[in-house]
Amino acid sequence: MVKICCIGAGYVGGPTMAMIAYKCPDVKVVVVDISTARINAWNSDHLPIFEPGLDEVVKACRDKNLFFSSDVEAHVADAEIIFVSVNTPTKTRGLGAGKAADLTYWESAARMIADVSKSDKIVVEKSTVPVKTAEAIERILTHNSGGINFQILSNPEFLAEGTAIEDLTSPERVLIGGRETPGGKKAIEALKAVYARWVPDDRIITMNLWSAELSKLAANAFLAQRISSMNAISALCEATGANVYEVAYAIGKDSRIGHRFLNASVGFGGSCFQKDILNLVYICECNGLAEVANYWRQVVHINEYQKSRFVNRVVSSMFNTVSGKKIAILGFAFKKDTGDTRETAAIDVCNGLVGDQALLSIYDPRVTEDQIRRDLALNKFDWDHPQHLMPSSPSATLKQVSVVMDAYQAAKGAHGICIMTEWDEFKTLDYQKIFNGMEKPAFVFDGRNVVNVEELRKIGFVVFSIGKPLDPWLKDLMAAA
Ligand code: UDX
Ligand code: UDX
Repeated sequence: MVKICCIGAGYVGGPTMAMIAYKCPDVKVVVVDISTARINAWNSDHLPIFEPGLDEVVKACRDKNLFFSSDVEAHVADAEIIFVSVNTPTKTRGLGAGKAADLTYWESAARMIADVSKSDKIVVEKSTVPVKTAEAIERILTHNSGGINFQILSNPEFLAEGTAIEDLTSPERVLIGGRETPGGKKAIEALKAVYARWVPDDRIITMNLWSAELSKLAANAFLAQRISSMNAISALCEATGANVYEVAYAIGKDSRIGHRFLNASVGFGGSCFQKDILNLVYICECNGLAEVANYWRQVVHINEYQKSRFVNRVVSSMFNTVSGKKIAILGFAFKKDTGDTRETAAIDVCNGLVGDQALLSIYDPRVTEDQIRRDLALNKFDWDHPQHLMPSSPSATLKQVSVVMDAYQAAKGAHGICIMTEWDEFKTLDYQKIFNGMEKPAFVFDGRNVVNVEELRKIGFVVFSIGKPLDPWLKDLMAAA
């Protein structure tokens, strides 16, 4: 029986290991984490993350060949293959602040592995890390090895939240990077044998360590770039009367471009895109490639621009002041079908509106009040640390914010509604009922292309939808200003 241990029971480690256990009944998989609360949740009926289909997979193999434990060292010592999927925050101080990855958790994991290991191990990088991290980790392991052989592999994760189980069940590709030595090749084969139980051979791609590490950063940079490109076009559409969704549809029909990831939005979020691009920027700078660094930095810059453009639109539409006005925020997660709020555009939009003295009433079907308050109180880049190591949030200070149980409650008595997440339920709300309960003029600012603009205008709303021709009412207002 192959024994696998994964350090880090998060969005990546949890579902990925559950799938390995599910597909390989003869492999023993133990997921460990320094957070006992997280481990307890994985062992309970309420898993710590919401992911469609995850409950079934976990229930099918938990306590059979899938285990969640806080006894990190014992399970690491016992395993042959160790996945590392711990946080890699962006540094907030010192060299590379605001760009470089902080590898504190990765490094301490590597030192711990070296300390407790009594037999040879394959150590697999799952966290997204800067290119050449594997090499640094390899040094830590071998310098502390006491004669034990460590092989390091890079096996980047491409699952997207909300579709993680689907992505893990039939991945478009599995990348395994390793050393081109006999030992490295053997390690690659060992990991390949695990995936080969359910992934077709031609989808398992092996390569050198650095190519695998860079492929992950490049893939996320490309995906984010498509969104920033559409968001850049959305600003031009609003200025000219073109419709960004028509443009996206038209260009997506070109098979060289393809239709996916062309949705203009209030801005991309999630734990990976911004962090990975900033990483890429920093690596380019370190290698003397300033032009390349600037090229990729623009992808993040446009994303910041898109969020502040949205806030400006809300404020300027509402007669240049939102002070004391109630605004409903529908959706807080960084996309639908997840309760994850890391880097969600909603944080910047809410903070922008709070800065202008608005009173916010926030509703998200999957995000808790505690999480929302913590997010709004955090400093930039502080989110990516294990939660129990974070300072407790001064949540009481956010008096301008209330968190409510449904969309109707959020919108009652509000001057405007901002849609931040494309939850399906926001498409079928009774907007007439909402309109009746709102102050007039009643505004809808759709950051996700969720609502039917024409229908809402018929009801009487003033509607702004990213990248669509401006509401005649708004156009007149802008012209007057
Ligand atoms: C993680 C990284 O954050 C990301 O950079 C990488 O690309 C993939 O792995 P994710 O699984 O989404 O992504 O993160 P998170 O949900 O925060 O999980 C990380 C877990 O590691 C946390 O549960 C944390 O408690 C745990 N951890 C962290 C350890 O067990 N040991 C540590 O030293 C640090
Ligand atoms: C992403 C990658 O897709 C995945 O392969 C990688 O492993 C981790 O990062 P994830 O962050 O879960 O996954 O979400 P994704 O679906 O890529 O969406 C990221 C953000 O972009 C979301 O905020 C989403 O709303 C936004 N987005 C996506 C758009 O604004 N427009 C689009 O067309 C697509």
